[in-house]
Amino acid sequence: MEKRDLFGSRLGVLLALAGSAVGLGNLWRFPYLVGSNGGAMFIILYLFFVFIICLPLMFTEFVIGRRSHANVFGAFRSLSSDKKSLWSKIGFISVLCSFTILSFYSVVGGWTIDYLVRSCMFQFHVNSDYSEMFNLSTQVAWRPLLFTAIFLILTGLVVRMGVKDGIEKFTKVMMPILFLMVILVAIRSVTLPGAGEGLRFLFKPDFSKLTATTVLSAMGQAFFSLSIGCGTIITYASYVNKSENIMKTSSYTALMDLGFALLAGMAIMPAVFAFGQSPTEGPGLVFIIIPQIFAQIPFGSILAILFFFILFFAAITSSISLLEVVVAYLIEEFEMVRRKAVFISFTAVCVVAILCSLSLGPLQEFKIAGFAIFDFLDKLSANILLPAGGLLFVLFAGWRMPDQDYINELTNEGTLPVNRFLLKAVRFIVKYVAPIIILLILITGFVI
Ligand code: PFF
Repeated sequence: MEKRDLFGSRLGVLLALAGSAVGLGNLWRFPYLVGSNGGAMFIILYLFFVFIICLPLMFTEFVIGRRSHANVFGAFRSLSSDKKSLWSKIGFISVLCSFTILSFYSVVGGWTIDYLVRSCMFQFHVNSDYSEMFNLSTQVAWRPLLFTAIFLILTGLVVRMGVKDGIEKFTKVMMPILFLMVILVAIRSVTLPGAGEGLRFLFKPDFSKLTATTVLSAMGQAFFSLSIGCGTIITYASYVNKSENIMKTSSYTALMDLGFALLAGMAIMPAVFAFGQSPTEGPGLVFIIIPQIFAQIPFGSILAILFFFILFFAAITSSISLLEVVVAYLIEEFEMVRRKAVFISFTAVCVVAILCSLSLGPLQEFKIAGFAIFDFLDKLSANILLPAGGLLFVLFAGWRMPDQDYINELTNEGTLPVNRFLLKAVRFIVKYVAPIIILLILITGFVI
């Protein structure tokens, strides 16, 4: 079997994890959810879930991955005391979940390439019809298929190069550039005349917006944005050496993801308000409203290129992590060489991605449980598979893994000076708080 790769540096690990976390979830999903869930109130809830539930979950995925040094399926098998029990097989759900997310994520990834090309060809004009443009990019069959295929090929090429030479090198260069670019766009946006209202919307909480739906979407978004629940962190952590400080690396990753989401909010919301647009536009916010705004401001065409460049690269660093979950599984469980594993998973994802993309156009009428395939897979993974995966992870780590093993992995066998109260709090959340709250999301996910 192929020799297991390891990340080459601490910064490499951090930026690969941040690359997985920072993605369409921050730039595409977060702004429109903030917009349609009452602004700052949503952000406060989101902060709560990121730090109280998701961060301990991230520690947990890290513990499972690094302790086992195996792909997500092998990880649970090797940490289970009974190799025949159902617990030893739960990693399969994660492989399935990553596959499912990748299938629709790559379709949106394709749109980002399409819009990047459009911006490079200076197609955004004051009087263009942006809804029509969006329809053309998402519904006219050949176009989204072509760009989705390009997106998946690029993802596959990086994953094929391996962890250290592909994933680590790529994310190490891309992530700092992304941060710089989003800061630039945010500065332009907040200095537009009339931007103040957008900032107020982002940072002044309206407590009357506190509803069950807002709470649930804030939780779901925290899972999605931090890439929790489908084994990407377990897989990346399995390539991390034993001296890495899990709590520190996870906390930095969460902070970077949060910082990026807020910067994305500051890049988008003030501009939306400055041009009298509606923040509740939904999934089309980024693709319909943003180009329209860029067409009207000085240096807008350059900013549009920057913006879609950010969107594309943020998406691809996340899709790389999703593909790696599937590829690592194939390599280790079926003794494949990496090249073959990438080819097989790429082909399988392509098939489902094609169906997803067509479901927004020619296959619109074909429904599963009342949803088009794209929406069905989106809902299935965000509302059910991710929380279910997260729930199984905390139940496994909380109740099947001895307390001492968990703490030892977290503290590098007791060599790191970690506050004992903090360790107890993390363990308490993993055992009791997180399972109850996640179960709540799951149940509501079924009901809504
Ligand atoms: N965190 C990514 C984003 O915010 O776009 C999406 C994602 C990647 C979700 C990897 C889940 C995952 F395992």
